[in-house]
Amino acid sequence: MRTPLIAGNWKMNGSAERIRAFGDAFAGDRLPAALDVAVMPPFPYLQAAQHAFAGTPLALGAQALNPEPAGAHTGEVNAAMLAEFGVAYVLVGHSERRQHYGETDADACRQVEAALAFGLTPVLCVGETLAQREAGATREVVLGQVAAVLDPLEAALRKRLVVAYEPVWAIGTGLTATPEEAQATMGDIRAWLETRDAELAQSLRLLYGGSMKADNTAALLAQPDIDGGLVGGASLQVDEFYAICQSAG
Ligand code: 13P
Repeated sequence: MRTPLIAGNWKMNGSAERIRAFGDAFAGDRLPAALDVAVMPPFPYLQAAQHAFAGTPLALGAQALNPEPAGAHTGEVNAAMLAEFGVAYVLVGHSERRQHYGETDADACRQVEAALAFGLTPVLCVGETLAQREAGATREVVLGQVAAVLDPLEAALRKRLVVAYEPVWAIGTGLTATPEEAQATMGDIRAWLETRDAELAQSLRLLYGGSMKADNTAALLAQPDIDGGLVGGASLQVDEFYAICQSAG
């Protein structure tokens, strides 16, 4: 069976103090055993987080990467650097990167390859905008984003990905997709995976993201094709994030 994964994407938030607070709160093993948890702080906190999270169930994640191996890319961070600081997961194609920094499906492909080459688990983010949903294009947009990255990948590498469905209209808005709405699209993703590789469809984890909180986690994860969550705002408060993890087990 698929082990649930809860990942907290801090976006451009956080502080050294918050890293310490998370390390302290998650020390001691009180979380459900069959649960993976990751925290994705901004780059400057990765080293502190690597130390603070040692001995806790918290894995480390990063929010983006540049696929180039090295060189003249001012301000960028590559996969080798992330691996050096114990990063296990990295977001690829988050809608904020697509919308505000011009990242495309082609960029996501290159980032996935770079992440995999350094042993990182890419979390490919997909999702439709409100206009696309209202135009009835949700399925086409989301499956297009999934196919653009998975189809060119070698079959053996596809199973090392996680896919996060984040409807853009639900991100940071307080508007959560209902469990049924999320399931409808995530069921479409699972069915698409089935057309490529039945084993992959069974094993690949699908996360929901978009205004996920402690009080809606259980209902979302009760859906058959929702294997966890990618949590933004609610991952910044240690008590709330802890409660989300408790509900996910
Ligand atoms: P919110 O949980 O703040 O809606 O953000 C979701 C998200 O974008 C996580 O990557």
